Amino acid sequence: MDHHSNIGVVGAGTMGSGIAQIAATYGHEVYLFDAYKDQLKKAEQEFLKILNRQVTKDRMTQKKMDDILHRIHFVDHLKNFSDCEIVFEAIIENLQAKKDQFARLEGIVKRSCILATNTSSLSIASISSALNKPGRFLGVHFFNPAPVMNLVEIIPGISTSNRVVEKVQKLTKSWEKKTVTAKDTPGFIVNRVARPFYGEALRIYEEGIADIATIDWAMKECGEFKMGPFELMDLVGNDVNYEVTETIFKEFYYDPRFKPSFVQKRLVEAGKYGKKTGIGFYNYQDPSKNPKPTKDKKVGQNLLNRILAMLINEAADAVFMNVATIEDIDLAMKNGVNYPKGLLEWADEIGLNVVLNRMEFLQAKYGEDRYRPNPLLKQKVANGEQFYE
Ligand SMILES: NC(=O)c1ccc[n+]([C@@H]2O[C@H](COP(=O)([O-])OP(=O)(O)OC[C@H]3O[C@@H](n4cnc5c(N)ncnc54)[C@H](O)[C@@H]3O)[C@@H](O)[C@H]2O)c1
Repeated sequence: MDHHSNIGVVGAGTMGSGIAQIAATYGHEVYLFDAYKDQLKKAEQEFLKILNRQVTKDRMTQKKMDDILHRIHFVDHLKNFSDCEIVFEAIIENLQAKKDQFARLEGIVKRSCILATNTSSLSIASISSALNKPGRFLGVHFFNPAPVMNLVEIIPGISTSNRVVEKVQKLTKSWEKKTVTAKDTPGFIVNRVARPFYGEALRIYEEGIADIATIDWAMKECGEFKMGPFELMDLVGNDVNYEVTETIFKEFYYDPRFKPSFVQKRLVEAGKYGKKTGIGFYNYQDPSKNPKPTKDKKVGQNLLNRILAMLINEAADAVFMNVATIEDIDLAMKNGVNYPKGLLEWADEIGLNVVLNRMEFLQAKYGEDRYRPNPLLKQKVANGEQFYE
């Protein structure tokens, strides 16, 4: 596959449009399909807006913008996909809708065409069951906004052939994306390992240890995270963030590590989704109502230490369960959610014994399985090893 290969994208929403824009930017002819014609129109207008902004800011020439737009073909029938080398699916997150979509696609595309899903929470195996030839099918998980975020998680399913994985790695790398490979497990790498960033912050807040502004301040000031957990939940939308947490909790057979929070659930129930509704954890209509952080470095460091220990414990579990390599997990968190450092390199820097002590302290304090230290962390400390040699 090279930049002459035709690319198909099904679903012209946020993610599908983003993927189409990337492919067209790198010279591919792109066929973009949506079940709803209005959505195609909307996507076209969005492209114009986004690219115009780039031209106005001198980040792109008018000619380049025109070329990109000429390469995106808005199509209202899948038959246009018969000449594509790869099709990316980014329709609604619904198993039956995705299965139906792939079954239809399989009857149209050529035999060598790779089929990829951008699902965030469904298993690759479950979608692949709709296909007669699942060897060419895999998960290719982009992050929002796809043209900006550097990371792509590649998820082979049970039946995916190695050649297909290699081709997709090569293609996405040619789009200047960093690629990581993840096992077909809930949340893949980023959406799984990032859970404690929100979950532990919520737990600390629910217990009344600190207010949201202080926790956000601590993570930014002491941890150098770009955003605090509550600001980020409000930005992503509490409805979306809560649903991801709940899905992962269920998929992990109700492991208490992933337990959702009542505080966030109540916000969702009340329609307080965050920035998009004007109110969430913070009030965006009347910011004077928001709490001010208590800027005490010692308090801040303690808050960071607790959340970071939980994040590292989760990253260690992803290594322990062979979800991905140490390098890929660090790369994923740095590029998928802009963490200031890879969690496992951070763990080495802090000292694994220190991280283990923090987990053991929390486990002893609460007596909850949620805080059990990961076996790999324990093993590494016992052997005097680090994640990186
Ligand atoms: N939004 C994110 O942050 C994000 C990030 C990574 C992955 N994802 C995943 O990407 C996929 C799409 O998410 P999104 O945020 O772009 O959603 P979206 O709602 O913005 O877009 C979905 C599009 O699919 C269309 N559609 C719905 N049913 C269809 C069908 N049967 N056939 C063809 N088109 C259909 C809709 O008209 C809509 O344009 C989901 O699987 C989601 O889990 C989303």
